[in-house]
Amino acid sequence: MRQRLAVGNWKMHGSLPENQALFEKVAVAAGALSRAIAVVCVPFPYLAQARTALAGSKAAWGGQNVSQHPKGAFTGEVSAGMLREFGCRYVIVGHSERRQFFGEDDATVALKAKAVLAEGMVPIVCVGETLAERERGVTEEVVGRQLSLVADRLGAEGLKASVLAYEPVWAIGTGKTATPEQVQAVHAYLRGALAAREKNIAESMPILYGGSVKAANAAELFRMRNVDGGLIGGASLVAEEFVTICQAADS
Ligand code: PGA
Repeated sequence: MRQRLAVGNWKMHGSLPENQALFEKVAVAAGALSRAIAVVCVPFPYLAQARTALAGSKAAWGGQNVSQHPKGAFTGEVSAGMLREFGCRYVIVGHSERRQFFGEDDATVALKAKAVLAEGMVPIVCVGETLAERERGVTEEVVGRQLSLVADRLGAEGLKASVLAYEPVWAIGTGKTATPEQVQAVHAYLRGALAAREKNIAESMPILYGGSVKAANAAELFRMRNVDGGLIGGASLVAEEFVTICQAADS
């Protein structure tokens, strides 16, 4: 049975008082889940608050980005070791906003995933096509290339300890969700690509969907055979929305 996950990606949102209320609700909701894990990936300065608020609960927390370097003169960067010190269990790598606005390429994403694994945490590796790429009919080629570079670098052992997230760029923050059939098709392709490397990994690796997941559409998306939960942006900032999404991932 594959691990089911509902991962909130807060992006650059939050404030100490707002977070506190949200953490408390997430902690309660996480306690009621039987097979899914609720995770919140918060901005770096709020990791200490996440640790205090969520320690002892069944919720996990993580980072949204990480340096590929273990330490050194890299002003403004945060290492995987630092994230681990704050109790992170998951780290998002290769989010399309990092690729688009901060110039991260596949090779960098692979190094970041490796840095996360080296500290015993789980990288949530994001792949996804732009609207232009979907319209050109090269979705599989794009996500296949993104996956393949990371997979080469991580090897079977690393892949086994990772999570994959399919996030079509055109569906992120746009309110335009991919249909369950579109999602299922890409997830099946990704699982097939993993199986071509190693069957066991393909069967055990959670593949999450992200892109305008909301309380209203989570259940129909997560019901698809190859979808193991979601990576949730905007809706993860609204407690009631995120709690319902966690429950959908659990059922
Ligand atoms: P969204 O973001 O749910 O706001 O579309 C998803 C993501 O970027 O992970």
